[in-house]
Amino acid sequence: MAESTQSTHATQTARSSWRSGLLLSAAVTVLVALLLVHFDDFDAAPYSSDELAKKPVFDVPRTNPRVLHGSEKIGEGRLSGPEDIVFDPKLGVVYTSCGDGWIKRVSVNDSVVEDWVNTGGRPLGLALGYSGEIYVADAFKGILKISEDGEIEALTDEAEGVKFGTPDGVVVAKSGVLYFTDASWKYDLHDFALDILEGRPYGRLISYDLFTRQTKVVARDLYYANGVEMSPEQEFVIFCETPMMRCSRYYIQGEKEGSVDVFIDRLPGTPDNIRYDGEGHYWIAIAIEHTFEWDLARKYPYVRKVMGFLEKYWKRPSVEKNAGAVVVDLDGNLMERYYDPELKFVTTGIKIGEHLYLGSLMKPFITRLNLTRYAATAPPSTNP
Ligand SMILES: *[C@@H]1O[C@H](CO)[C@@H](O)[C@H](O)[C@H]1NC(C)=O
Ligand SMILES: *[C@@H]1O[C@H](CO)[C@@H](O)[C@H](O)[C@H]1NC(C)=O
Repeated sequence: MAESTQSTHATQTARSSWRSGLLLSAAVTVLVALLLVHFDDFDAAPYSSDELAKKPVFDVPRTNPRVLHGSEKIGEGRLSGPEDIVFDPKLGVVYTSCGDGWIKRVSVNDSVVEDWVNTGGRPLGLALGYSGEIYVADAFKGILKISEDGEIEALTDEAEGVKFGTPDGVVVAKSGVLYFTDASWKYDLHDFALDILEGRPYGRLISYDLFTRQTKVVARDLYYANGVEMSPEQEFVIFCETPMMRCSRYYIQGEKEGSVDVFIDRLPGTPDNIRYDGEGHYWIAIAIEHTFEWDLARKYPYVRKVMGFLEKYWKRPSVEKNAGAVVVDLDGNLMERYYDPELKFVTTGIKIGEHLYLGSLMKPFITRLNLTRYAATAPPSTNP
């Protein structure tokens, strides 16, 4: 009896010292982690209170919150991370930019995939030229021109003596000028998340004149300058700033030439590419829905510093959901939203005929949805 009491006592002592040892090592681990984060050179900047006051708008007149229901997978297994999509009506194909350097062509009528040209880099934004050529914003190779027969020509890879960090979106004006974004002159594509977490404006909107071959920065200090699109009358170029959840206009002619104003802000998430559909609407891809966590991160730079540390040395926590695309009219009014809880990193939404095509950095296919059949609808009225 006495012996067993003693041994129980011994076990308890061993347990409690083991427990305090565990607590101590946990405390040391947390302390070391905090010091490592604290002394890491990654340093996030505060957002202005004006920016923080702008809350995203989720109240969209018409929605389809289950885009994957009824959608098809186009080119499954043959397309790796099809980031951007551009339509060539003359050939009846879409061009899409893939993670393995390929620009692939997919026929719209029967979805046949053709390996077209490999840039040797990571093509992102694509634009169809006026003679069937394709312009490419390649994250690693700069701005490229690819002739109709697949000849690659490098056009430009720096402005004002600063090499492009992440060429991202491109569009071509009838005047023969390309407008494109350098999302971040500081970070390359592998580190895009660090740019966004750091919260400083390293993005630029740049022009390249195809006749004079001059490269010019036309708007600077942009927050991760991403997709670009030309307005139907060619009076301005719209560009999206991903972490600011907004798209702005840069005027290329008329009274406002050279100035910038906001086209739409308070988007329900982070915008990527933007496409005009020829029918009065822009389609803006939403890569990540705005979340409560991201709201906190925007508010507290230290949260972004910790996230940056995790990003650098460990991995990114996966909180992304409800990616898709929004439809915006010519005056910048949010009309429709297409999304799905299972969609992440949607980078392009483009309407071709009666279909919506969605490109994504992560998926091995293009998602296609019949818009006639699965159109966004108004929510049922709550006050009958
Ligand atoms: C698709 O279009 C191509 C090129 O226009 C044509 O050669 C082909 O026959 C078409 N296929 C179908 C199934 O319509
Ligand atoms: C799209 O859906 C509509 C309505 O269900 C249908 O009439 C049409 O044939 C479909 N289009 C295609 C290309 O499947």
